[in-house]
Amino acid sequence: MTISLKGRSFINTMEFQPAELEHLLARAREFKLSRPPRALEGKSVALVFFNPSLRTRVSFEVGIAELGGHPVTMSVGTESWTLEYREGAVMDQDKTEHIKDAAQALSRYVDAIGVRAFPGLKSREEDLADPVIECFRKYSSVPVINMESALWHPCQGMADALTIHEQVGRVKNVKVALTWAYHPKALPMAVPNSFAAIVSQLGADLTIAHPPEFPLEKRFLDSLPRRPRIVHSKEEALAGAQVVYAKSWGGSAFYGRWEEEKRVRDGYKSWICDRVPPGAVFLHCLPVRRNVEVSDAVLDASSIYDQAENRLHVQKAILAELV
Ligand code: CP
Repeated sequence: MTISLKGRSFINTMEFQPAELEHLLARAREFKLSRPPRALEGKSVALVFFNPSLRTRVSFEVGIAELGGHPVTMSVGTESWTLEYREGAVMDQDKTEHIKDAAQALSRYVDAIGVRAFPGLKSREEDLADPVIECFRKYSSVPVINMESALWHPCQGMADALTIHEQVGRVKNVKVALTWAYHPKALPMAVPNSFAAIVSQLGADLTIAHPPEFPLEKRFLDSLPRRPRIVHSKEEALAGAQVVYAKSWGGSAFYGRWEEEKRVRDGYKSWICDRVPPGAVFLHCLPVRRNVEVSDAVLDASSIYDQAENRLHVQKAILAELV
């Protein structure tokens, strides 16, 4: 079967068939073994950051350069105008330009647009609409690559899947545990959503552990092709796991009520990942708060740097195949 992904945006792995994801992962493995083709020769990619980054920014810039392309990175509000996303907004407050205009102007200059825009964590309904990346998708005439949005971090999910494949030899039927971890702040759900999505799409046997107050969105879990088992004990999730992924995320029931969330959250400081089953592969997307989310001992015996490196290879595969 010939797979052509040219011209498509990469917002969320759930918009791709498992065979298409396997194709991208195979390309990433090729690119990791030998220098990739100059697939972006003469092309430019805008990288638009509403939020900070270490891995995403560097791996995209380096990957685009290795493909022969030219990255143009901008931080919204400091290196470009502040951007509005609400349709029909009366822009008499702090936002200088609408994404409707920015995306169409950028599309005249570049061949793809990468966007990083975290959730506001104030309105659950607004965050569930993933408004910034969807506004870019609506108004761009070139592919849009999600560099982490309110709901999804698909490039991270692809790197996670590549790392599992390297370490275990496959993803299908691998026993995977995704465990909530304590963190002093409410964090987005993009990473756990994308990890759960891709391992489910590729047929892993996924268990998700979290305190009762911190579920992932039910409508998201219901949409997964292979439903995960949900437990409220990390020990139960980790028993027999071949892969353990620790990540903190916010409580959707607490939107806009941070003080209440903090009280509940602070009762779960024991949810630090300080041991994994013998031989298990440990993953974390980074950045990580050492000895708060995960112990030094677990991190220092883990695959987190392979996982971080794999961002580079999967993103080159995505750019080479879609742009
Ligand atoms: N994992 C990840 O996206 O890292 P950064 O936030 O540093 O880009």
